[in-house]
Amino acid sequence: MMGHGELGGGRGSPGPNRLEFLGSRASRAALRVGVDIVELARFECILRRHGTRFLQRVYTEAELAYCRHNVSRLAARWAAKEAISKALGTGWRGIRWRELEVIREPSGRPGVGLHGLAKDIAEGCGISHWALSLSHSSESAIAFVIAW
Ligand SMILES: CC(C)(COP(=O)(O)OP(=O)(O)OC[C@H]1O[C@@H](n2cnc3c(N)ncnc32)[C@H](O)[C@@H]1OP(=O)(O)O)[C@@H](O)C(=O)NCCC(=O)NCCS
Repeated sequence: MMGHGELGGGRGSPGPNRLEFLGSRASRAALRVGVDIVELARFECILRRHGTRFLQRVYTEAELAYCRHNVSRLAARWAAKEAISKALGTGWRGIRWRELEVIREPSGRPGVGLHGLAKDIAEGCGISHWALSLSHSSESAIAFVIAW
């Protein structure tokens, strides 16, 4: 949350360029969201069709080790990668799937790890924090992210 002086134009505010200053602060502070849902039946068809090549192209070693071929977990992470790309707002141009990683905290809570171009893009947008939530049922997997 902004301090009183920053919003109210107190003594510490930056004078003639205040609007520009506030504008840049606002755009950097903006929240970004991303969400995606994956149908497990459709996802299983993709897995069957493309097999190991698909897994190696989309997932990091750590993700594969955690998922252990569990379709729901793999689908949730696919949804997460789509959701992260939505929050970044760049689509898939130039970004590789493996540059968007779902990491796992000791509590089991999922987190976001970025690498390569994806990391550079996030830094360029002023994004330094991510919150990710996953859920899966027998039919679908969903991921929701917030970035700021
Ligand atoms: C964590 C928990 C809420 C998952 O709920 P669920 O209905 O069984 O399963 P869902 O499909 O909705 O969610 C599963 C996902 O929850 C996430 N998850 C696991 N532990 C988590 C935690 N501590 N905090 C946030 N998310 C967590 C994981 O990403 C998991 O997906 P994954 O198996 O692909 O890694 C449930 O296992 C639980 O109640 N655990 C004990 C209490 C707890 O740790 N609560 C966390 C919130 S405070």
